[in-house]
Amino acid sequence: MAGPLTIAAPTAGAMQALGERLGRLLAAGDVLALLGPLGAGKTTFVQGVARGTGVPPGRHVASPTFALVNEHPGRVPLVHADLYRIADPRELEELGLRDAFDRAAVAIEWLDRFPDAAPPERLEIEIAITPDGGRHLVLRPIGARATALCAVFEKGP
Ligand SMILES: Nc1ncnc2c1ncn2[C@@H]1O[C@H](COP(=O)(O)OP(=O)(O)O)[C@@H](O)[C@H]1O
Ligand SMILES: [Mg+2]
Repeated sequence: MAGPLTIAAPTAGAMQALGERLGRLLAAGDVLALLGPLGAGKTTFVQGVARGTGVPPGRHVASPTFALVNEHPGRVPLVHADLYRIADPRELEELGLRDAFDRAAVAIEWLDRFPDAAPPERLEIEIAITPDGGRHLVLRPIGARATALCAVFEKGP
């Protein structure tokens, strides 16, 4: 089992480029857990992922903080959810995530608030803000598929 992988993302553009590179590798059933404080860059990373999954370039990938879940068409559908505003686990049912795991790549911000809202095998991406205003990403794969994804990602573009 591969250990965690730490990557620097000094700018929002670098963050999106990393997301795009990962997005190109994604298939239906892949789950990304975006972790880290408000303003860390979780949505920014998913905007890059959307490019990588082939979301049409003109399409705005907004923060789903209010909509809670958005779906974007592409080579593989991308379902983007945010659990920040969910207060009660019963609200999770309304998101319709359950069927998304079979047919889409799913990126979930704040999955650490309700870890059982997704299958246990996932790629955790924890984003930390560095003192110079940049970011560090720590990728922690859980399960064989996420470990393989991480290994390909680590090799570079
Ligand atoms: N790697 C980075 N370095 C510097 N600023 C970043 C980086 N990634 C994102 N940002 C900026 O951080 C702010 C918050 O990003 P956002 O993706 O909305 O965070 P979150 O979804 O984690 O709350 C945005 O202004 C974004 O441009
Ligand atoms: Mg966000």
